[in-house]
Amino acid sequence: MSIIYHQEQRIWTLETRHTAYEMQVSKLGYLIHLYYGAKTADRMDFLFEPYDLGFSPNPYELRTEKCGTPDAYPQEYSGMNAGDFRLSSADAVTASGIRGADFRYVSHEILPGKYRVSGMPSAFDRDDEAETLVIRLRDKAAGLIAELYYAVFEETDVITRAVRLVNGSEEAIELGKAASACLDLPEGDWDLIHFHGKHTLERQIERVPVMTGIQTVSSKRGASSHQQNPFVILCGREASEDFGDCYGMMLVYSGSHRIETEKEQSGTVRCVAGINDETFSWHLAPGEAFETPEAILSFSGTGLGTLSRQYHRFIRKHICRSKYMHERRPVLINNWEATYFNFDETKILHIAEEAKKLGVEMMVLDDGWFGTRDDDNSGLGDWFVNERKLRGGLTPLIEKINALGMKFGIWVEPEMVNEDSDLYRAHPDWALTVPGRDPAMSRNQLVLDLSRKEVVDWLYGALARLLLDHHIEYVKWDMNRHLSDIYSRDCPADRQGEVPHRYVLGLYDLLERLTKAFPDVLFEGCAGGGGRFDAAMLYYSPQIWCSDNTDAVERLYIQEGTSYGYPASAVGAHVSAVPNHQTGRITPIGTRGVTAMSGGFGYELDLGKLTEAEKEAVRSQIARYHEYYDLIHEGDYYRLTSDSRRLTHTAWQFVSEDKGSSLVSLVMAAPRLNSGPLRLRLKGLDPEASYEVVRMEIFGFEPPAPKNGRKVFSGAALMSGGFVFPMLWGNYPSAQVYLKKV
Ligand code: GLA
Repeated sequence: MSIIYHQEQRIWTLETRHTAYEMQVSKLGYLIHLYYGAKTADRMDFLFEPYDLGFSPNPYELRTEKCGTPDAYPQEYSGMNAGDFRLSSADAVTASGIRGADFRYVSHEILPGKYRVSGMPSAFDRDDEAETLVIRLRDKAAGLIAELYYAVFEETDVITRAVRLVNGSEEAIELGKAASACLDLPEGDWDLIHFHGKHTLERQIERVPVMTGIQTVSSKRGASSHQQNPFVILCGREASEDFGDCYGMMLVYSGSHRIETEKEQSGTVRCVAGINDETFSWHLAPGEAFETPEAILSFSGTGLGTLSRQYHRFIRKHICRSKYMHERRPVLINNWEATYFNFDETKILHIAEEAKKLGVEMMVLDDGWFGTRDDDNSGLGDWFVNERKLRGGLTPLIEKINALGMKFGIWVEPEMVNEDSDLYRAHPDWALTVPGRDPAMSRNQLVLDLSRKEVVDWLYGALARLLLDHHIEYVKWDMNRHLSDIYSRDCPADRQGEVPHRYVLGLYDLLERLTKAFPDVLFEGCAGGGGRFDAAMLYYSPQIWCSDNTDAVERLYIQEGTSYGYPASAVGAHVSAVPNHQTGRITPIGTRGVTAMSGGFGYELDLGKLTEAEKEAVRSQIARYHEYYDLIHEGDYYRLTSDSRRLTHTAWQFVSEDKGSSLVSLVMAAPRLNSGPLRLRLKGLDPEASYEVVRMEIFGFEPPAPKNGRKVFSGAALMSGGFVFPMLWGNYPSAQVYLKKV
């Protein structure tokens, strides 16, 4: 039993393997957050003492006692306009003008299994591991009910939350804010870690002190965005990779989000996360309900590394539904950086043939195969083959690729339309544009109005036809612009504020139908690289193209930032040509392989253009990737360096769950002058066991023969003393060390 109700004290304890989360109903019915942290045997209600706070109003019931202001209560779901001036979790106005919410306890239920969020992805529970707690709160003036859902995943140390806001009154309610979760932390020196970026530089790590006032991580781009990922960590100032208290807050949402952190006058910290209320409103007729996206919370008392591994396991086990979480995904070659729009059947076949010779298993045909798509100015929306490039259609090409013994995959960007397309000419009103205003253009394309069912139905038809008529085993689902000029021609004037979220619901509906109808197709998410890298997209596609930046050095930092919240199995990573197309940098082919071998592995260049030695390197990379597949996709991931951009090198390690094998990777971004060989303390091994260095490969540099030929070390020695690498000099050398328990 992971949810325990202590009836007398009206306390709920949610217990996972290592953590406990506790809340209580106060005498006046406030739902108070008591504690979230390492598991203890105690009830934690002693932590909370109501007190008076100057200029913070007290509840009416306590007016003569002048004690117990809600402005100082740690709240489970903060109200608004009712005495708590900190971040609110919900904002609502009734038709008669009553604004805000003073949430008080009504009832609760404990249910077996995991609640689901309708119309949106949410964590699932395959083995009946989870339990659900529903706590019902109500504001009596507005009649607004907040049903707080908590699911406890004991094994993975995760608690998920979502909220259902119900109009329990006789009149309409306009929601202006509907957060997924509110988490109050005690006074202390907290840091906020968030993952910001831009196109080709996603999920860069920034760690800042939580300041007095409000800090916001958000997107109002209609996508979770390259710019700010919907995931933050709050940790103690002293917390590091292997030490200290850390809390993760991750949204299972792909649209505009907002995660706010407020340190208030008494020094406590509140974090509220959900849909971005700046671009949101929702109309609730009497009896109607609104469901928020889910938030995934996790706590680690042993540093950031543990927190990341908890998220990795959780996402692999309870978020990614695809059968390719268990079945092996093929090593692929994608023609984008090899040809861009300039290809025909002969060129594609040539790329496939060369790749097949080296062991590549799937050919992915990227942008440009459809409509009149010869550049990015036309064709989006016309999901039928461009016969000028591929004479006779896709089938003859697919048959030839299949005859080589390779699978075939394809690129689509269904949410978009070019003005120069048959689709736009037939349905100009299907694009999101504001009447009377010229829309802002991005990549010369517009966004289709997925808030409209007829648009989603049409897209389903077009894509289902593509998949039914052709032997396509993989789909790369791209999204190459953000939403501006949001106005739906199908939506009443007073409900236009619902369009951004309805767009996301339409996208989920489309993905749900397609992934259900074509369960054998491997979907890979993409949005100009990693511009929609979030847990909700991982529900539909077990991997996401991590970035359009394929430079083996810049990718280290992008993948490191990504690793804080997301598992390596979710990262699409390719070896590309040099000089790299994004940075111009030249790195050894071996190092490009080491960097890319941290996720769903593939190639993105014309392998036929490589030298014989490079081809041999590719052959051996693929063989090694197969050997390490389970470690990379299912092993525990350890950052051996953190915030590596400021270091000379980046290193990381995979360890199998049974600690029987491990893969250590190191890339030297800047050679070390006047210093000895690099020594790195390994992690996650069995200290009692002995490990043999089965293979150590150095790429991009010929090290002198080691003086010490020792090959077997105890786990304790490798973790406490470290592994000593040979000197690595030159341009971006790297090393990969494979260890096995003996
Ligand atoms: C996006 C993707 C790329 C490629 C192009 C094609 O930028 O991230 O990988 O598919 O679109 O236009």
